[in-house]
Amino acid sequence: MKQLFDDAVAYLDANPDFETFDRLHFLKTYINPLYDYTYQLHRKLGVETVDDINTIAMPQNYHSTQLFTTQFFDAGVYANIDLKSPLTAKRKELGRLLFFDPILSTNNERSCASCHQPEKGFTDGLPKSLALNHQGTIQRNAPTVINSVYAQNYFYDNRAETLEKQTKHVIFHKQEFGTDFTEIMDKLNQSETYKKLFLEAYADMGKYAMTPLNVTNSLSVYLASLSSFNSPFDQYVRGEIADIDPAVKRGFNLFMGKAACGTCHFAPTFNGTVPPLYQESETEVLGIPTRSDTANLELDPDLGRWASGYPRDRAEFYQYSFKTVTVRNAAITAPYMHNGVYNTLEEVVDFYNRGGGAGMGLDLEYQTLPFDHLTLTKKEQADLVAFMKALTDNPFANDAPEALPTFEGNPAWNKRKIGGEY
Ligand code: HEC
Ligand code: HEC
Repeated sequence: MKQLFDDAVAYLDANPDFETFDRLHFLKTYINPLYDYTYQLHRKLGVETVDDINTIAMPQNYHSTQLFTTQFFDAGVYANIDLKSPLTAKRKELGRLLFFDPILSTNNERSCASCHQPEKGFTDGLPKSLALNHQGTIQRNAPTVINSVYAQNYFYDNRAETLEKQTKHVIFHKQEFGTDFTEIMDKLNQSETYKKLFLEAYADMGKYAMTPLNVTNSLSVYLASLSSFNSPFDQYVRGEIADIDPAVKRGFNLFMGKAACGTCHFAPTFNGTVPPLYQESETEVLGIPTRSDTANLELDPDLGRWASGYPRDRAEFYQYSFKTVTVRNAAITAPYMHNGVYNTLEEVVDFYNRGGGAGMGLDLEYQTLPFDHLTLTKKEQADLVAFMKALTDNPFANDAPEALPTFEGNPAWNKRKIGGEY
């Protein structure tokens, strides 16, 4: 181990140049193994670990031996739910059914999966999601929910602190599910199967098993289970595959170096959850335009975090500020950004290369993205895209259930479509 430490230091000394420093080599050869060794040493010395002495649960799992694995985090801490219960598997199964069941919406035609379709990386492929009444769209683009649990706040404006609150927003929103818990519980109570499933999944709660709380809880347990760091890139860092396309390697080095993407999209989630404690989710002002062509540019009028509804966000520098979402699975989640303005990753990289909205001439006082141009060559831009594509990993593509619970009292509902009609 000492040898590896010395070698790592020697490698740093020998490679002082910011642009040519091979970050991926350093990560894979030195940092990742040293992370494990340091932990093993800690255990051998018998010194207590941070979670032995800390009474507040930490989002990071100290006992992980790798950086690029979901074990690096404790999803339950982020979701603020108990995932260690022996009933977790049953709750997840129930949550999965509810996620795909349009019975939750007022017209029985729309489920969570209508906008978060598993085969599209849990997005809907639209610039902005359709409104419930089929008239126009809702305000924003549907982000992926794979690995979305690893955040302190949810939604593009950070307005929900927990997944359970996030779910409630969907239920009450006039153009999403347009319903309330009275309607939902009235419906679910007409299904013997749902009653049984709630009683089993929340056996510890007796007659309170089937409650609004457990509708949102089981959905959150399901969301928390949609977590995977097993893309070709992760496998390469962990040494599970021998090699990876050189373009991906160059792309990662650019992402973390010259292109500065990693200053907002932090490893290993590649979202805005800030290391080293991973306790805060950042929002940023990029100056996202209304249209993708660069002529006659106009700033997208969505005020983002400033309009979250919280007085604490009513600061001018939060105008047009949006949550830094993950680039994991970006290859399958087009179109991009809160308004779906970009159709391809090439367009996204071009946007950054030009210094975002301000770099393209928009008058934006508080843009947090540096407005100077990145001067990336065509090849470098392609390398960045190759790297993002190597972060594709959707083991949940076939998660839709084969059948949904039946309603004895209301046979018409049994014709509802798994995943909803739209
Ligand atoms: C009409 C389409 C639609 C439906 C239905 C829908 N969502 Fe979403 N979802 C969105 C959009 C759009 C956003 C981003 C909204 C925003 O940021 O203001 C979002 C955001 C989220 C997020 C936050 C992701 C993050 O990284 O912050 C989660 C989690 C989520 N949805 C889960 C669900 C669940 C669970 C359901 C069902 C109860 C559901 N969604 C139903 C469109 C939808
Ligand atoms: C200043 C912080 C910041 C920097 C630097 C940054 N990003 Fe982002 N990125 C964000 C934010 C914030 C969003 C969401 C913006 C929105 O939707 O309005 C985002 C969104 C994205 C998306 C769209 C994801 C989706 O599903 O819609 C991609 C792809 C992306 N960034 C790639 C990159 C790349 C590549 C770089 C480097 C060239 C980069 N980012 C640099 C903050 C940043």
